[in-house]
Amino acid sequence: MSTEHPHIFYASELDRSAAWRAALATEFDSFELSTADSLVDPQTVDVALLWRIPEEGLGRFTRLRAVLSLGAGVNQIGLERIPPHVPLAKLADVTLTAQMVEYAKATVYRYHRRLHIFERHSARAHWQFELPMSASKTRIAVLGLGSIGLAVAEALRDEGFTVGAWSRHERQLDGMRTHTHASGLETLLGESDIVINLLPLTAQTRRLFDRRLFGHFSAGSKLINMGRGAHIVEADLLEALAGGRLEAATLDVFDVEPLPPAHPFWNHPAILVTPHAAGVSSPMTAIAHVAENIRRALAGKPLLNQVDIQRGY
Ligand code: GLV
Repeated sequence: MSTEHPHIFYASELDRSAAWRAALATEFDSFELSTADSLVDPQTVDVALLWRIPEEGLGRFTRLRAVLSLGAGVNQIGLERIPPHVPLAKLADVTLTAQMVEYAKATVYRYHRRLHIFERHSARAHWQFELPMSASKTRIAVLGLGSIGLAVAEALRDEGFTVGAWSRHERQLDGMRTHTHASGLETLLGESDIVINLLPLTAQTRRLFDRRLFGHFSAGSKLINMGRGAHIVEADLLEALAGGRLEAATLDVFDVEPLPPAHPFWNHPAILVTPHAAGVSSPMTAIAHVAENIRRALAGKPLLNQVDIQRGY
């Protein structure tokens, strides 16, 4: 190893550097952590730990050996601004994954047990019995089988739901049907009651959920968007709800965040808005993955979860 004194440049609007400093101290006896305010010597930065590339770019970091994303998704980082010789890795964190699984379960159960209907009835003092169904009767589609999509699909399968999954590459998974290609997506949507989006945001998946795709949903479906806002054409989602193709939607991510107060998603009787709160990574658990990637970067080895920049994830 060339050195065990890594210099890390940190930039994020979301988390605080103090938590990362404490986490790094559990892994490295000696390290330097700089932020835009404290950075003195950009030429000595080894690794950039970022949510998004800062406006000034990365050009001044002449020794940069890796960019590590603070997000599990990397579309927001500014892929086109990563110097061509510098590898990028997305974050994998057990806390984030566990929280995403919890959110998927909570929102699926809300629909499966008709709580979204009881919430409306409750507001009108309306007593209307709905017969509970067994989990196996609820068919769930999980779109995207990255580390989070896979964990969500397996957890829901283990709860007894009938789960199908769609991914770009062919996969074999115990106890669930898997699909690939556009035709596989259309088949899966037509056979599902609840659709969970966990796709990465790429040129291929941007605005994937448009009027045409909603046309393949089975009537009265529910959509749970845990991916990115730009996966969806918002006007087409509203149209699918108005036409009954969709019965309801739970949305955690939006084109513009925070969602503007006048946005039609607020107060829509069939939409539950949550404030990009499905899962948050924790520096104290994510550090295992980040520290391993810092060591790999210093040693010139391939990173864990390295992103294929051309592919976009
Ligand atoms: C959050 O949205 C993430 O990508 O980690």
